[in-house]
Amino acid sequence: MFPDLTRDDVFRIETARLWLRWPRAADVAAFARLASDVDVAGLATCLPQPFGAPEADDFVIGARRTNTQGRGLVLGLAPRNDPAALVGLVGVQTRGESADLVLGYWLGRPYWGAGLMQEAIEAVLDMAFVLTDAGQIETPVRAGNVAARKVLLRCGFPVPEPTQADALALIDRAAWLGARAGAAGRIALPLAAAQL
Ligand SMILES: CC(C)(COP(=O)(O)OP(=O)(O)OC[C@H]1O[C@@H](n2cnc3c(N)ncnc32)[C@H](O)[C@@H]1OP(=O)(O)O)[C@@H](O)C(=O)NCCC(=O)NCCS
Repeated sequence: MFPDLTRDDVFRIETARLWLRWPRAADVAAFARLASDVDVAGLATCLPQPFGAPEADDFVIGARRTNTQGRGLVLGLAPRNDPAALVGLVGVQTRGESADLVLGYWLGRPYWGAGLMQEAIEAVLDMAFVLTDAGQIETPVRAGNVAARKVLLRCGFPVPEPTQADALALIDRAAWLGARAGAAGRIALPLAAAQL
């Protein structure tokens, strides 16, 4: 589904404050430390439970395999001024034979509240809709996950109410284009931008 461009681990995306890059073996310790925090693990629908070093190791290997096979684009988040660090993760992956994608994301607790995940999700949505034929991208939202709901809304997802129930948020190409049209300062698209 994803083209050769993203299937090599030199691929990376630059946003205002982040590098989005392939996760690697050197990330496992930071990954396990940040993602095993109960406040992260309890809300992130994309993480297996429990989550420790062996699970982080498996996750990194699996994410790299997914990227290599073009079945998704799973990227670690690193501060632009410290590209070797890992502060969170964002990814889109296929599910079964469907052409549509599922989004997963989490940020380590020390990095919450600075708007970083909006930057990361917007960049991944741009890549996914430009580089693939996906018609829509969906993501589960846990009941009471107010921060995730706010971030998704800001990225253009119509997030269903009420907040007390688990929900599925879904963005299609039209909603994505609408969100992009109103977003000054969004990253420049490397490919097919003329089609927009
Ligand atoms: C959800 C998450 C990615 C948000 O990322 P972030 O970059 O910190 O988000 P923002 O900085 O844009 O903050 C989001 C908003 O939620 C608010 N918020 C954060 N925690 C909150 C809480 N517990 N209750 C109410 N509001 C909260 C913030 O104040 C902010 O609102 P504001 O901008 O209006 O002040 C991050 O909190 C996280 O990783 N959580 C755990 C994993 C998870 O939920 N993953 C998503 C499902 S897979």
